[in-house]
Amino acid sequence: MLGTGETGVLLRDNGLDVPLANGETAYFNYYWLRDNCPTSFDPETRERVFDVFGMDTAPKARSAAISAGDLEISWADSNHITRLPLKFLSAYAKGEKRPDIANLPRVPWYGDHYAKIARFAYDDLVADKANVLEWTRAMLTDGVALLTGLPDTDAALLDTASLIGHVRPSYFGLDFEVKTHIKPTNLAYTSKALPLHTDLPDEDLAPGVQFLHCRANTVDGGNSIFVDAIAVAEDFRKAYPEDFDLLVATDVPYYCEHESFDMRSRQRVIELDEYGNISGVTISQHHADIFDMPQDYLDRYYPAFCRFGKMMRDAKYLMRFHLNGGECIVFDNHRIVHGREAYSATSGQRHLHGCYTDRGELRSTFRVLSGEGRFK
Ligand SMILES: [Fe+2]
Repeated sequence: MLGTGETGVLLRDNGLDVPLANGETAYFNYYWLRDNCPTSFDPETRERVFDVFGMDTAPKARSAAISAGDLEISWADSNHITRLPLKFLSAYAKGEKRPDIANLPRVPWYGDHYAKIARFAYDDLVADKANVLEWTRAMLTDGVALLTGLPDTDAALLDTASLIGHVRPSYFGLDFEVKTHIKPTNLAYTSKALPLHTDLPDEDLAPGVQFLHCRANTVDGGNSIFVDAIAVAEDFRKAYPEDFDLLVATDVPYYCEHESFDMRSRQRVIELDEYGNISGVTISQHHADIFDMPQDYLDRYYPAFCRFGKMMRDAKYLMRFHLNGGECIVFDNHRIVHGREAYSATSGQRHLHGCYTDRGELRSTFRVLSGEGRFK
């Protein structure tokens, strides 16, 4: 303990105690105080330009006091003065995570969701960012939205995606065409039924947000089937807590191998976010590699995995709908498990144009359009 300032600031060996509002006192570390001095940030780039690694000795206050609502520190090793508003200090006093406006509660939905799905007209999104804000909000809470009135052009998909993020390529390229291919490299490129899945679990970081622009859908069959895996996983946690823990803790191998690629990655079927909430799933039977865990571990894992897969197919969760020409379904690929019924390839046209953006950029767009940020 080095001394007491007149305004109640107590200097200690590695930091200081500051009286904050409501008579509470909070401790702050000297490195943290020096590193986060407002002068440490470039006002133009908004990046930190102070070099904490370049200090020859550990920072220490010569004196510190409260003045006009600021903590004012005079540093022992330089003539530098740091002024930090007490309001700023209060936000970090308890060592809690910085609040994030994009951390919206996820609202589980069920098989009857199609009538309630958030819908936005393409022209309205292009005309007014306030509509894009509501679209991103729906993506964060519901994980799915239906856009209508897209132009019947190749450019419409990428133009739409660019409203909330940059298109992020996969090993299938910048975008992809879902229709019957002559030499398919993917079940989606056939007219067969496509079991419930999330896309590309064989990538290190599976795509975050998926866009499917329906250019035509006049075939017999081919309905889309969407499930909110948050709703399923929440129920699964209650019904089978031990199975839930296994699916959260176990890395499962996924693959996609063809002539020109051999993608492999390991993912957990149920994913938790940094707050311990269920944030989504990564699941795909057709991209699951041969499970290479010890066989006696599989005695427990397979039944849990199958119970979850079966629960996902319960009618309670299945949103079945027909995607129409000019519509674009947009969904969180780590949350919404999707599939398709088989269709008759000769009965008409079925053509979807798809691409991905990332979830981080979705949250970024939501924060920016909400007017939130440290530099606002
Ligand atoms: Fe898919």
